[in-house]
Amino acid sequence: METRELHDVASVRDERERFVPRGVATTDLVVARAEGATIWDADGREYLDFAGGIACQNLGHNPETVVRAVHEQVDRYLHQCFMVGIYEPYVEVARRLDELWPGPSETKTLLVNSGAEAVENAVKISRAATGRPGVIVFDRAFHGRTNLTMAMTSKLVYKQGFGPLAPEVYRAPAPYPYRGVSVEDALAGLELLFKQDVAPTAVACVVLETVQGEGGFIPMPAEFVHALRHLCDRHEILYVADEVQSGCGRTGPVWAISHFDVEPDLLVSGKTLGGGLPLAAVTGKAELMDSVEPGGLGGTFSGNPVSCAAAGAVLDALAAPSFRERADEIGRLVRGRLDELASRHAAIGEVRGLGSMLAIELEAKSGDEAKRVTVAAREQGLVLLSCGLYGNVIRLLPPLTATDEELERGLDILDAALA
Ligand SMILES: Cc1ncc(COP(=O)(O)O)c(C=O)c1O
Repeated sequence: METRELHDVASVRDERERFVPRGVATTDLVVARAEGATIWDADGREYLDFAGGIACQNLGHNPETVVRAVHEQVDRYLHQCFMVGIYEPYVEVARRLDELWPGPSETKTLLVNSGAEAVENAVKISRAATGRPGVIVFDRAFHGRTNLTMAMTSKLVYKQGFGPLAPEVYRAPAPYPYRGVSVEDALAGLELLFKQDVAPTAVACVVLETVQGEGGFIPMPAEFVHALRHLCDRHEILYVADEVQSGCGRTGPVWAISHFDVEPDLLVSGKTLGGGLPLAAVTGKAELMDSVEPGGLGGTFSGNPVSCAAAGAVLDALAAPSFRERADEIGRLVRGRLDELASRHAAIGEVRGLGSMLAIELEAKSGDEAKRVTVAAREQGLVLLSCGLYGNVIRLLPPLTATDEELERGLDILDAALA
């Protein structure tokens, strides 16, 4: 096959139209290079990146220690398959995730390729450990695009026309104070679910994003997380924290659930974990993780050594107290600016988030205005993403290594785009 360079933005866009299906929704940004908080497109135009490849670059693009670890691993070996030959980088990631576990229990970790695969495995482990089939998920949840996880995900576009969906998935309300769903409403919904649809004795696990990501950057209130933990303990249901988007330092601590001092039974991580390479994990209480017979977990590329080498450097960075301090500082700075924007732009209904995982929800229940804002921002050099059931939430995912100047510049662009 002839190799060649694709030259400019227009030709890459044309070829994308020709060769990539439209089901993969894309923006028209064509990336050629990235570093820190900056992306350069194929025509040399510079952008500030407040999307991070959807929350994968909490450390920014190409952090030096991650790139160095990847280079070193590339020179050793690229692939082994952990089931064929044990290698240290996999074990090392599991050891570090145990150190970072948000609770006193001893843990073990399974590594896989994607967030969805990790969520599926968390369900498999929960079912094996409890001998029960049921899975409870929540309104606005996003857990992935595989057959099981699309049943767990709440938005129609991710599952319409792809059925039959996996059975034994039950949905309950989750708090959404801005749209009138209180903690009490959500807990009443769960009680109703136990009366109407599934007995608690048939439920293996609840799976909850500590801060809902695709669903609109909605932090779960502390009382809800505590009540859910209590409910799980009462009915011997496992609590699975999906921290694929809210984890890896996004909200300040390594795991968002640490804000609430609640120990989950299993925790799913991904995205930033691999520093830009595909890697996701299920970490959980050791006895639960060991409830699956040998052979029941794994995968050819799961826990690829190069991804694991990157993750080792990522976890080093996340564990440093200075990372948390800067993330908290960024949270305060960005929230202050967003509150100020909300006082001037009537379209903004709510500023919300947890720590440095922040967003604005536009009042209108339609994605049109958010789309207009993200397109206008991109034209002015800022990459932003929307989310939420209606697509009317603009989320900010700048690297937590960004300078104040970069953050202020990005927020100035957002201000102008909102106008
Ligand atoms: C909370 C959450 N869980 C799971 C996933 C699925 O991860 P992946 O796209 O790596 O399969 C995502 C992806 O956005 C997510 O935000």
